[in-house]
Amino acid sequence: MILVTGGAGYIGTHVVRSLIRHGMDVVVYDRRPLPQPLLDGKPFLPVPFVVADLADRQALDETFEKYEFEAVIHLAGDIVVSESVAEPEKYYLNNVGGGMSLLAAMRRYGVMKIVFSSTAALFGLPERVPILEDDPVRPINPYGRTKWMFEQMLDDYDRAYGLKFVSLRYFNASGADSSGLIGEAHDPETHLIPLVLEVPLQKRPYVSIFGTDYDTPDGTAIRDYIHVSDLAEAHVLAVKYLRDASESRCYNLGNGRGHSVREVIATAEEVVGASIRTVETPRRPGDAERLIAGNERIINELSWKPNYNDLNVIVESAWRWHKGQN
Ligand SMILES: NC(=O)c1ccc[n+]([C@@H]2O[C@H](COP(=O)([O-])OP(=O)(O)OC[C@H]3O[C@@H](n4cnc5c(N)ncnc54)[C@H](O)[C@@H]3O)[C@@H](O)[C@H]2O)c1
Repeated sequence: MILVTGGAGYIGTHVVRSLIRHGMDVVVYDRRPLPQPLLDGKPFLPVPFVVADLADRQALDETFEKYEFEAVIHLAGDIVVSESVAEPEKYYLNNVGGGMSLLAAMRRYGVMKIVFSSTAALFGLPERVPILEDDPVRPINPYGRTKWMFEQMLDDYDRAYGLKFVSLRYFNASGADSSGLIGEAHDPETHLIPLVLEVPLQKRPYVSIFGTDYDTPDGTAIRDYIHVSDLAEAHVLAVKYLRDASESRCYNLGNGRGHSVREVIATAEEVVGASIRTVETPRRPGDAERLIAGNERIINELSWKPNYNDLNVIVESAWRWHKGQN
């Protein structure tokens, strides 16, 4: 049995889907209910879920008492970088404090394996791309720092208590499950692909391009977009690795290829079949020019393989889901 915290969120629902497909038993723990779409009249994510906060010790204890967990996949957290700058306390309380509460419960119940949702934000403004796991970690906002703190806590728990962990440092999770039943919805939405697709859906008048004077071929920033289903599969591999792991590992998780903001918009225009209004604005402070994952470590060590690394396929899958929400 695998406990998935944050399993009701964008990435969490896709992770749950992958675990189910691989025959694993899952329990979701999230402060909001698990979405319940139907496929051919049957629940698409047929797993038990607990609606509770990580800070709720009693709910955590009841959950760990009720089920016997082999490992925890910890996705729960607050994720908006700009909000973390304005309200750091919220981020330290939830991403660090909530994480500590989870680790303490794991120790109380002897569950000593965890897969953690970390982030490329650990690397701040990197000196080179692709970014390798051992490149300098220098987060430049509270969000990134909370993730780095939790990774360091995992390291300390490994040394002192023998906890084994896999930290997956996601680059830009994007796209949606091929069923079109689950997809990306954040509130507020800050991710490029949904923001772009909300223009043709008339949910916003235009999409902003932050910075057109970067040292890149078209002047806009470059990111590594990884399909959420490929990202989800990495969690299955990480759980399997942890079954007899003697060593904890950190992996960068991206496609190893970058696309500019303008390329994403052009691809979306092609997929949607309409032009998408943009407004060019100055760079945002703290936005790196290029973030691209060096992904050889996870490919070599866990035999991870991206199946949907074409930007067109990623945007098409996102569009299918977004259209279905209207
Ligand atoms: N989306 C990305 O591109 C990206 C990139 C890097 C890392 N990540 C990390 O991946 C994880 C999931 O991201 P997402 O995009 O699916 O976000 P999301 O907001 O869709 O999902 C997060 C889920 O965690 C739950 N949650 C938050 N705090 C909680 C708490 N204290 N107790 C219980 N549940 C709580 C929320 O209700 C939500 O369902 C996060 O930890 C995020 O930092 C995401």
